[in-house]
Amino acid sequence: MSIIKETKVAVQGALQGAVAKAVALAPDSWIPGGRPDPLIEHRHGHVGKPVSRIDGPLKVAGQAPFASEIPMEGMVYAALAFSTIARGRIASLDTADAEAAPGVIAVMTYRNAPRLKPVPVFMSGPKAAGGDDLPIMQDDTIHWNGEPIAVVLAETQEQADHAKSLVRATYEDAAALTSFTEAKARGTRTAVFMTGPLHDEKGDADAALAEAPVRVDATYTTPRHNHNAIELHAVTAGWQGETLRIHDASQLVAHTAWSVAQIFGIEEKQVVVTSPFVGGGFGGKCLWQHQVLAAAAAKMAGRPVRLALSREGVYRLVGGRTLTEQRVALGADRDGGLKAVIHEGVVAKTANNVMPEPFILATRGAYESETLRLDVQAVELDMLSNTFMRAPGEAVGTFALECAMDELAEALGMDPIALRLRNEPEKDPLSGLPFSSRRIVDAWRSGAERFGWDRRNATPGAVRDGEWLVGMGCATGTYPYYRMPGAAARLTITRDGRAVVDIAAHEMGMGTATAHTQVAAERLGLPMEAVTFNYADSTLPGVVLAGGSQQTAAVGAAVIAAHRALVQELLKLAGNDSPLAGLNADAVSSRDAGLCKADEPDRHETYASVLTRAQRDTVSVEAEASMPLETMHWSMHSHAAMFCEVRVNAITGEPRVSRFLGSFDCGRIINPKTAASQFRGGIIMGLGLALMEETQFDERKGRIMNPSLAEYHVPVHMDVPSIDVMWTDIADPHAPMGARGVGEIGITGTGAAVANAIYNATGKRVRDLPITLDKLLG
Ligand code: MOS
Repeated sequence: MSIIKETKVAVQGALQGAVAKAVALAPDSWIPGGRPDPLIEHRHGHVGKPVSRIDGPLKVAGQAPFASEIPMEGMVYAALAFSTIARGRIASLDTADAEAAPGVIAVMTYRNAPRLKPVPVFMSGPKAAGGDDLPIMQDDTIHWNGEPIAVVLAETQEQADHAKSLVRATYEDAAALTSFTEAKARGTRTAVFMTGPLHDEKGDADAALAEAPVRVDATYTTPRHNHNAIELHAVTAGWQGETLRIHDASQLVAHTAWSVAQIFGIEEKQVVVTSPFVGGGFGGKCLWQHQVLAAAAAKMAGRPVRLALSREGVYRLVGGRTLTEQRVALGADRDGGLKAVIHEGVVAKTANNVMPEPFILATRGAYESETLRLDVQAVELDMLSNTFMRAPGEAVGTFALECAMDELAEALGMDPIALRLRNEPEKDPLSGLPFSSRRIVDAWRSGAERFGWDRRNATPGAVRDGEWLVGMGCATGTYPYYRMPGAAARLTITRDGRAVVDIAAHEMGMGTATAHTQVAAERLGLPMEAVTFNYADSTLPGVVLAGGSQQTAAVGAAVIAAHRALVQELLKLAGNDSPLAGLNADAVSSRDAGLCKADEPDRHETYASVLTRAQRDTVSVEAEASMPLETMHWSMHSHAAMFCEVRVNAITGEPRVSRFLGSFDCGRIINPKTAASQFRGGIIMGLGLALMEETQFDERKGRIMNPSLAEYHVPVHMDVPSIDVMWTDIADPHAPMGARGVGEIGITGTGAAVANAIYNATGKRVRDLPITLDKLLG
């Protein structure tokens, strides 16, 4: 990172520090969420009901069109050829055979690609969406092993796939740095994430550690992970006059539209991005080269282009989670009180991206400790840039921290749950902010009871069932509540008593459309059938990113703002002949397809009646969400207590998870059916992280060697036991709808719960993920 960038970050950091202090000290009533969302009190409506996905019937009937299924007139199919060196330049590129192959329309390379401006990389602007800021097919330079070098366009996908195998390239190698070990030896730098350095200190942690009567100090390693959403990344793109239409698989349509406009040097409104259905995002479905290449190729060929990546293609050009090497040192009194928490280590990134794996984030708010030192160092390699992957930071950070807590419990001769409860903080350990709502103790108690934790034998390796060693482990999961700025929504009421919500949000399978139809219906006092939720179109209001487990809060806050504006408008229209006459918006609530006085529900008039009298067919308002200041005023997090039972085969070393329980504290649960599915999905991804997921990266050549689901293992049904989930359902008074995020919490803590259970079963402490059977033998 350049000095200029670093200075900018430091200045931003100082400004934010001053703002954060002011916001922290402001009265609650000045802060969004200072007055609890009235919806928190609604207990018998749509919110909280296990409603089935409203798009479920479409999906099972095959009628939900995904990005690679949306037709465009005159469309051609694209296939990519990838570089085979990590750094250098293309010496020769022979496309003649590919061009002569059957069905081929054109081959695009750096020689004939349209001129493109650099990609705005994440966090360089409010709508920047790029995983990195490398030029896309603009010259002969190679930046990573697997970079696209040619786009072959043909009449069918098969013809394109065949022709791309005929592209011949030779290279001039430059010295590439692809070895993590070598990079570390050359020196590391403090990693920067969002706007601040990943470094926190409280007191003298080294001294406190040295003096602590009980200590653990160990290094934990986690490998690279690649994105493997079931839907491959795909795009269908075409130019219609001056307008570029992109049907994408995306978790950020508004960001993509703006960023692509920058790249092509056109107006933002000339790019329209839609993404109505997405088969999983997890942080990977942002802006990578394929969308830009498809749009550029469509421009060059004068025909729309469909570019659906192969599974290998996803590994070659969509970044993943980087590797980490983490030291956790804990010092405690004999009664378990923490004196020192040190969590530090190294990750790999590239010079062109802003995503070091911030593995210390969860440790910031986890435990009360007299001293703390948290630090992430980064090295830069010549490889594909990293990106977000479900709970970036927390997923692997909690593996190290929560294994260390288990090791400390063992050293103290203390129950691991008791150790965690012993160190439960009263307020945020680093910022000193009060918690908005932290009921993790409830989650631990109810979870332990449901799981039967009291039946655990604390002696490792003591429980055997035939060939199988049986053990139980637990871990804390935690993920912050975020709410990104920029959300806005349009709310329309029609005279026939229907409502429409328009917002550029995303449905990646997690139930967004369903949950927000419930919320809007509840807020408006309408049946769900009367509400239409339109989303995933960049021409709709709002800049919303489906990530950071914050989309629900962002959409919720925008709908709150729009709803308030709508009520004000309706009260104006209602005039003096209405039972609502003279009321202001604060005194009004909704029921039975209309408005009423909150504490006098009989003073009621339906929307239809108000609009009819006002001779209006519709009332439509648009409003922006409040600034997300609540996160600077309260310490806000989702919490989980994770319980795992494993069986490890004493002869083969094979580990099998036999039972798993996630006990969650995430505020109010809007839809228990879709939320349970999010929790379970996160836990399943956590089982993959614990036991099998690993990108094989050739340290000599910088090439990913296992770019397929045959060689990169994710859990299949046989690997997943029935997963039990439960939750406190205690509303967070300071979050919209009382709800904190549920999307990423499930993968946090899970890796450690599995590792700790394996230790309890076998007496073997594996600190290197994934825990494969070879590490359990001998
Ligand atoms: Mo998520 S990794 O914030 O999509």
